[in-house]
Amino acid sequence: MLHPDIKEVLYSEEDISKVTADLGEILTKEYEGKYPLVIGVLKGAVMFMTDLSRKMDCDLELDFMDVSSYGSGIESTGDVKILKDLDTSIEGRHVLVVEDIIDTGRTLSHLIELFRYRKAKSIKIVTLLDKKERRVVDLKADWVGINVPNEFVVGYGLDFDEKYRNLPYIGVLKEEIYK
Ligand code: XMP
Ligand code: MG
Repeated sequence: MLHPDIKEVLYSEEDISKVTADLGEILTKEYEGKYPLVIGVLKGAVMFMTDLSRKMDCDLELDFMDVSSYGSGIESTGDVKILKDLDTSIEGRHVLVVEDIIDTGRTLSHLIELFRYRKAKSIKIVTLLDKKERRVVDLKADWVGINVPNEFVVGYGLDFDEKYRNLPYIGVLKEEIYK
C-alpha cells in the first residue's frame, strides 16, 4: 500500500533491486581478492549497504560511520561532525564508501579527506542515488545507481525527520508534509 504522505513513487522495490544487483556484479569483479572495507554512512545507507553487500560475491568487511550534516531539515549546513567513528583501522585498506544519496557532496568530500589522511590504500564511492544538479563541491562517485532529479526523496533508508526510512520504494513527499 502506498504511504498517504507520498506524492509519487520514483523507483519501485523492483527497480532498486535490479540496480543493486547490477552494481553488485560490477563490485564483485572490482574487489575480488582485495578484501575491501565497505563503509556505510549511517543511517540512510543502511538498506542499500545490506542489499548491495549481499550481491558482492567476494570476501569483505563491513563498518559504519555516522556523521551529522543535515539535522532534521532538508538543507545541508556544510558542517560535518563525526558522531560515530569506524571500528576498524583503514590504513592500507581498500575502502568502498556506500552512500544512499549524494546531494551537495559536502558530507562525502569531508569523509574522503579524512580517509586519505588515514592512509587508505584506495578510496572509492558507490551511491544509490546522485542529485548532480545540487553539487557545490567537486565530488564524483565512482559508481552511481540512479541519477535523480532535484526533488526531496524518501524511502529505502532516506528519511524526512527520521520518518519513511522503512518504505521499500523511493518516492517524493507531498509538499504539505515538509512545507
Ligand atoms: P550532501 O549534501 O553532503 O548530503 O551530499 C548528503 C546527505 O544528505 C541527505 N540528503 C537527503 N536525504 N532525501 C533524503 O532523505 C533527499 O532527497 C536528500 N538529499 C540529501 C542524505 O542523508 C545524504 O546522505
Ligand atoms: Mg546519508
